[in-house]
Amino acid sequence: MRAIPTLMFIFVGAYDFNSVIADDEIILEDFAAPSHTWRQLNDPVMGGVSTGTFTLTPDGLAVLAGVVSDVPSLGAPGFIYAGSVDSVRFPDVSACTAMSITARSVIPYAGYRICFGRSHPIDAKFFAYGHKADFNLPAGGEFSTVEIPFTNFSDLWDDATGDAIRTCQEDKRHCPDRDNLANLAPISIWAEGVSGKVRLEIKQLAASGCAGAPIADEISAAYDVNTRAGIARMLWDNFS
Ligand SMILES: *[C@@H]1O[C@H](CO)[C@@H](O)[C@H](O)[C@H]1NC(C)=O
Repeated sequence: MRAIPTLMFIFVGAYDFNSVIADDEIILEDFAAPSHTWRQLNDPVMGGVSTGTFTLTPDGLAVLAGVVSDVPSLGAPGFIYAGSVDSVRFPDVSACTAMSITARSVIPYAGYRICFGRSHPIDAKFFAYGHKADFNLPAGGEFSTVEIPFTNFSDLWDDATGDAIRTCQEDKRHCPDRDNLANLAPISIWAEGVSGKVRLEIKQLAASGCAGAPIADEISAAYDVNTRAGIARMLWDNFS
């Protein structure tokens, strides 16, 4: 047993602290190896005529494709979306500041939204559950990662258009709170409120700005002591 602190000391000595501390991202879903089950839904439940599909490709993409059409009874565009439907928990992202999506919009489309959780405040619209935000992707072939600050999400949104009725910036009561960020399920990705063809190819969903990510925290706390003995001590305490 006496040998363990020495071994740990050597291991820690070889570790690249900067890469650990800079790693402030938590992966929520990697569509090359999905850990959740996703299902596609259209607006027919609300009398609309939009059509869409959500498929996983052999090269590791999730594809939301279809056509958002006007809902006849509303004379306004409907939606297509795909959401997680399993009961596997997403990681707690309450230490993070944003959600990010790595994707490309093969066809220019201006009505992308992302939504998470089941928040349903007293003044919420009937079909509106969760915190929702808009995001834009540049048209064209390139993949990009869009970071959507959690302060861009609101749980008071119009279920006919997808637009926020009151934003989180306007009224803090509609911002996601710690509990919402600790319970993200279900997550859904929408093409909503804008008519037209859609082909969104998604690689990954993540949370970013996670300053308090567990590993970074523990190691930086030890590093603050500024002695290798401090790190060895911490590991010794953890392992003994
Ligand atoms: C977040 O909201 C701000 C203010 O409305 C907006 O300027 C910004 O573009 C939004 N961010 C994203 C990624 O959509």
